[in-house]
Order: sequence, then C-alpha cells, then structure tokens
Amino acid sequence: MDRGTPSIGRFITLEGPDGAGKSEQARRLTLRLRASGIPVTITREPGGTTLGERVRATLLDPTVDRSPIADAFLFDAARAELVSQVIRPALARGETVVCDRFADSTLAYQGYGAGADLGKLEALALLATGGLRPDLTILLDVPVEIGLARRRHGAAAELTRFEATELHDRAFHDRVRAGFRALAALEPGRWRVVDASGTPDEVEQAVGVLVGRIPADSELPAPPVRITP
Ligand code: TYD
Repeated sequence: MDRGTPSIGRFITLEGPDGAGKSEQARRLTLRLRASGIPVTITREPGGTTLGERVRATLLDPTVDRSPIADAFLFDAARAELVSQVIRPALARGETVVCDRFADSTLAYQGYGAGADLGKLEALALLATGGLRPDLTILLDVPVEIGLARRRHGAAAELTRFEATELHDRAFHDRVRAGFRALAALEPGRWRVVDASGTPDEVEQAVGVLVGRIPADSELPAPPVRITP
C-alpha cells in the first residue's frame, strides 16, 4: 500500500492458531529489525490502547458468554482504536509496525471457526480499519494438537475464553486453522506461511528470512535493509 512513506514503514502482522507462538515471534522479529536500525512499533490485538486492553479483559473472560457477531464488534471496536491511535501514526512516522493478530483473526475465529458471515465480518473490519491492510502477513501455522498442548502446558498458560470454552472442541480449532490457511491461499501476495511446529529459534530464522532481514544461509552476509512482502 502506498502511503507516501519510506519503504521501511511497513505494516507486518503475525497470525495463527492458539499456541503458534506469535507473541514470542513478534517480539523476536521486532528486536531483529531494531538491531538493524529499523524503527519498529510492536503492538497486539486485542489490546494496545487503553480501551483495547479493557475490551480485551472482557473478550477473554471465560464467564462472559456472547455471540460470534458480538465478539466481532468488540474486537473491531478495539481494532478501530488501535489503528487510529497507534498503527496509522507509527506508519506515518515511517516506522515498521509489527502487530500480533489483526483483522484476519476475526475472519478465522468468528467466521471460519464460529460460523459468522464472512462478508459481514469483512464489512465490519473495513469500518474499523478504514481500509488499512497489512503489507505482509505471516501465518505461523501449527497443527492443532501441538498448539493446544503448548497452551495447556505452557508456564504462563492463562487460558482465554476462546481456549477454555473450545479446548476440547477439536473441530472448532480445526476450522480456525483451515480458515487461516484458506485466507493465505486466497491472497498469496500478502501472506507467507511458516511452519511453526519447530523450536522458537527455527521459527525466528524462517520469519527473518521472510522479512528479508537474514539470509536463508546464515553464513551469508546480511542483505540490504529491505522488507519484501
Ligand atoms: P491471546 O491471549 O492474544 O492469545 P494468543 O497468544 O493465542 O494470540 O488471546 C487472543 C484470543 O482471542 C485468541 O484465542 C484468539 C482470539 N481472537 C479472536 O477470536 N478474534 C480476533 O479478532 C482476535 C484478534 C483474537
């Protein structure tokens, strides 16, 4: 997307099923980019603003029952704030933005996973984002059983409502994963798929190659600073 900003001001999102390791990889990617002199704003969904963090608490509360479309409104309310308060200003400053989940998560979870109409979800997201789309979306793809096992046994395993209520619903998580893969296949120019079943170091290497920061062969000299979606 041409925003009249330098080519380093890219909007990169990380997506994937629960337990794919997005938060850790968002952090590692940010550190790598910063180490090479690229200014980076890192943020996450739901959250990233005062309203977003409050909405997050409600969204992830296992005791609050809601419909998928009500969930989508809440996610998109938080998203609207994040886009206007954090993401657009950072991009306008020429910074790269790394965001842990974005609008594609609503399509995968509330749409493919919970059955809400994809067209309506897209219309709602368009209102929230004002048409802002990522330049590059990295799908950290992991088999459902591996992702859920990581969350169950993880040290900081704070089960979200989506995991707690659906933990034993393999079919839900299968649909979410298939949804992400379908979205990636529909828009191959924006998406790149990374096998996230390996170690954090292996996944970091794969993500780094994708964003053009490190060569496929780590013995090679680093390429010029350039992010190619
Ligand atoms: P989070 O703690 O961020 O989980 P993770 O580390 O796996 O990203 O919780 C986010 C949860 O909210 C996760 O289960 C996915 C879900 N979610 C949606 O259902 N729709 C959305 O639009 C977003 C952004 C997240």
